[in-house]
Amino acid sequence: MRHLMNPLDFTVQELDQLFDLAVDIEKNMDKYAHACAGKKLATCFYEPSTRTRLSFESAMLNLGGSVIGFSDAGSSSASKGESVSDTIRVISCFADICAMRHPKEGAPMVAASRSSIPVINAGDGGHQHPTQTLTDLLTIRSLKGRLSNFTIGLCGDLKFGRTVHSLINALVRYEGIKFIFISPEELKVPDYITDMLKEKNIPYEEVIRLESIMPQLDFLYMTRVQRERFFNEEDYVRLKDFYILDKAKMELAKKDMLVLHPLPRVNEISVEVDDDPRAAYFKQVQYGVYVRMALILTLLNIKVY
Ligand code: NCD
Repeated sequence: MRHLMNPLDFTVQELDQLFDLAVDIEKNMDKYAHACAGKKLATCFYEPSTRTRLSFESAMLNLGGSVIGFSDAGSSSASKGESVSDTIRVISCFADICAMRHPKEGAPMVAASRSSIPVINAGDGGHQHPTQTLTDLLTIRSLKGRLSNFTIGLCGDLKFGRTVHSLINALVRYEGIKFIFISPEELKVPDYITDMLKEKNIPYEEVIRLESIMPQLDFLYMTRVQRERFFNEEDYVRLKDFYILDKAKMELAKKDMLVLHPLPRVNEISVEVDDDPRAAYFKQVQYGVYVRMALILTLLNIKVY
């Protein structure tokens, strides 16, 4: 039995197979419409979510399966003090696969160690968010035809943004990737990540201003300042509007640069950018459903011919 805790749980080759499957699903949805008939997905969300939870649920429903679950810790037995290990043992009796989001880093891993069904980490604190990364990689591969040889700018809350941590982790395995980290001093990417990049000899730059590096980018990955992970409101208020991507900044970018964002967006991308053909963040949401369908099939070991 396999779980997904970190994008590195899959080899590059396994990821390619997963993306090929997602592409086939996109083209032939009907073929997969009953692939998970009789199977249940449990979504155990101890932290707010719109996209990830509904994307998982929509993926399972598209596969002909059904879904059960809870969408906040307050409505689960966690509010009575139940441990994640006990909850997953109970859920294992009800469902065939579980997607779990938790504010504590490592909680889905604890669950996986006690589970008799596959567990998918749907975001653990500021740590990892592997299915967002699968979504990001499939988007990049589908829109650019490759996962190598590009410069990607990651902008915003690089300290607490788990989507950023997972994406960097995954991209270092491809050739010719250069990272440009754009953040205020207080929200810089953690040292363990820059140490890993140095060790692997992967080029990166850290800058504060977005404008200066715009012309170099093939992708710009914007992120929200993670209010819920700040220790005080004052710091959040000071930093929340540090970056606002608008039309004027887009004019500095390459004609084929793409803007990605895991969403939800707050103010960091002005709505005027939404109509720019380079804005890919809503397409990204659609790819998220295909890749989660592919992931559910893969972890349940279901083949469709
Ligand atoms: C992200 C998350 O939850 O980490 N959202 C998502 O899953 N698409 C990013 C965020 O909340 O800012």
